[in-house]
Amino acid sequence: MAVLEVNSSNTKNEASGLTTVKQNRGGLEGVVAATTALSKVEGAAGRLIYRGYSVRDLAHTTTFEEIAHLLWFGHLPNRAELSDLKARLAAERTLPEVALAALRILPPETAPMDALRTAISAWGACAIQNKPTLEQAIALTARFPLILAAFYRLRIGLDPLDARPELGNAANYLYLMHGRMPAEEFVRALDSYMVMLSDHGMNASTFTARVVASTESDMASAIVAAIGALKGPLHGGAPSKVLDMLRAIGTIEQSEEWLRDTITGGGRLMGFGHRIYKTTDPRSEELKELARLANSHDLALAKHVEERALALLDELKPGHEIHTNVEFYSSVVLDAVGLPGDFFTPTFAASRIIGWTAHVLEQSANNRLIRPNSDYIGPLQAHFVPIDERSN
Ligand code: CMC
Repeated sequence: MAVLEVNSSNTKNEASGLTTVKQNRGGLEGVVAATTALSKVEGAAGRLIYRGYSVRDLAHTTTFEEIAHLLWFGHLPNRAELSDLKARLAAERTLPEVALAALRILPPETAPMDALRTAISAWGACAIQNKPTLEQAIALTARFPLILAAFYRLRIGLDPLDARPELGNAANYLYLMHGRMPAEEFVRALDSYMVMLSDHGMNASTFTARVVASTESDMASAIVAAIGALKGPLHGGAPSKVLDMLRAIGTIEQSEEWLRDTITGGGRLMGFGHRIYKTTDPRSEELKELARLANSHDLALAKHVEERALALLDELKPGHEIHTNVEFYSSVVLDAVGLPGDFFTPTFAASRIIGWTAHVLEQSANNRLIRPNSDYIGPLQAHFVPIDERSN
C-alpha cells in the first residue's frame, strides 16, 4: 500500500502519486491516505460502492453475510459459498468466557460502546495475537452481537442467551437481545441497515484500524482502536443523539424554534453534514424508506424535522452544502426495530466490523507503516536555561 507522507507545503507526492489538498484546513481533509479495493465514496455524486456494486442496489437484495463475503473474499458468494460462510460464522457464535467475565465486572451504567471495547480487548489479550487472519475476522464479526446482547441482558438482570444456529446475523442479534423471535420485517430492516453500514471508504475509525495494523500490531488492537474512534459524535456516536434531539423537539410545532436556536447558538444538528458527501448521503435515502416501520408520530416528526433542518442549514450556513447523513434515519430505524438508543452506535460497530477487518487484512497484505508528518508551528530556536536559573 502506498502511504502519503504529508509535507508542510502540502504539495503532490511524486513518489507515491498521491495528492494532498492545496490549502491545509486540518483534519487531513482531501488527503489520500491509502489505496483500497474495498469501497469508494463519491461525495459529489452521492454514491457509495463496495467492490464496484452500488450500495443502493445491495441494500435490499443482499444480506450482511453476503457483504462480508464480498469484502473479505472479493466477490459476491454463490449459494455454496454463502452456506459455507454462514456455517463458519455460526460456529463462532459463542461468548468467550473472558469477554463475559469482563462484562460482568463492569457497572451496569457503562456505555455499551465502552463495554464492547473492553470485552474485545479482554478477549483479544487471551485469544487474538500474531498476524491478522480471516479466521479472526470471522470470529470478531460473529461475536460482536453476542457481546452486545450479553451486556444488554446483564444490565437488566437477565442471563445471556445462546445463539441459535439456524438464524442469521441480524436475526440472532435481535433474538439474543430480547429473547424472542424477531418479526421478519424487523430482521430485514436491520439486515439492510447492516449492509449499508458495512464499509465507507477511509472514514475515521477505518483509518484508525489501518494505522494500528500498519505498525504490525494485532487484529484485536486495531479493532479496539476503531471502536474508540467510532464512538465520537462526529463519527458513529451521532444516532443516539439524533434520537435525543427528536425527543427534545417533541412536536412538529416546536421544531422550527428548536432547530433555529440550536444552529444560531453554535450547536450542530445531529444527523446532518458530512466531510465527503456534498449531496444527500445515499444510505439516508434508503434508510428513510425503511423508517416506515416506525410509528406514525415518530416518522412524521422525523420527516418534518429533516425538511426544516435542511431549509434552516441552507439559510444559516450558506455555502456549506449540509445534507442529511446516514445517522438521521438510522436512529429512526434502529428505534423502530426495538434497539435501545445507547445500542445504536454499537450496532453501527457490529456492521462496520466486516469493513474494519477487511481493511486490516488489506493493509497487512501489502503493508507500509502509516506515519504522516505534522506542520510544526512552535519556536525553532529556544534558548535553554537550567532549572535553577529559570524565573517563571
Ligand atoms: N449542524 C450545524 N452546522 C453544521 C453541521 C451540523 N450538523 N455540520 C457542519 N456544520 C457547519 C459548521 O458549524 C461549520 O460552519 P462555520 O464555518 O460557520 O463554523 C461548517 O458547517 C463546516 O463544518 P466542518 O466542521 O468544517 O465540517 P466537517 O467536514 O469537519 O464536518 C461533520 C463533518 C460530520 C463532523 C459535521 O457535519 C457534523 O458535526 N455533523 C453533526 C454530527 C453528525 O451527524 N455526525 C455523523 C456523521 S455521518 C456518520 C459517519 O460517517 O461516521
